[in-house]
Amino acid sequence: MKKVVLDNYDDVCRAVADIYSRQLREKPHSVLGLATGGTPIGLYEELVRRYNAGEIDFSMARSFNLDEYYPISKSHPQSYDYFMRENLFDKINIARYSIPNGEADDPVAECERYDGEIAAAGGIDLMLLGIGLNGHIGFNEPSDTYPIGTYLVDLTESSLTANSRFFGPGEHQPGRALTMGIGAILSSRSIVLMICGANKAPIAKRLFEGKVYTGVPASFLLLHPDATIFLDKAAAGA
Ligand code: PGA
Repeated sequence: MKKVVLDNYDDVCRAVADIYSRQLREKPHSVLGLATGGTPIGLYEELVRRYNAGEIDFSMARSFNLDEYYPISKSHPQSYDYFMRENLFDKINIARYSIPNGEADDPVAECERYDGEIAAAGGIDLMLLGIGLNGHIGFNEPSDTYPIGTYLVDLTESSLTANSRFFGPGEHQPGRALTMGIGAILSSRSIVLMICGANKAPIAKRLFEGKVYTGVPASFLLLHPDATIFLDKAAAGA
């Protein structure tokens, strides 16, 4: 695991965009893992800027997103499908993207289908992650056990509260999600985790104790041979 502390959020976004740029230059048909939430928004803005400037090309790349609320319509403004189209996919030339289907009638079958699609694509080359205040990656919430494959998860109070800021007053917030399991995440050939903002400092501190805790899902990343954790100074407590 490599730790990189940069001055501020914009610097982290640029550094991670550099990694995506290099990945696509070296392997244009890369399989990218992508995340949602507040953290990657600046990264996606930077990737769109580079795309518009002709500096990055996604035309042979495909992507898999980590998770999606369940159930949710793709047209719901808080669905991750909508988020990704708004923030990235409608603004670049990505060949193909996949997100767990929050509209599926049978969530278990959808999880199996999603894992099959990732496997058929040859696995993920470069996985982007954010981290929850509770240490979750994707929607792998703190637990004693972690499914390897994609699964339907009950969201914890911590995640529901953290994400309630995206929902309007009285707007229904799904209490469950489909999330990529720890297996697909850790099978990714390389992983980048972005940790930004002072509110993430306590979980970042826990992560850098250098121990794997079952109660801190992100700590599994410490076992990965090519994981880089980018922090801004606020999250690093510097
Ligand atoms: P955030 O979410 O980027 O909105 O803080 C990260 C996460 O929950 O993984």
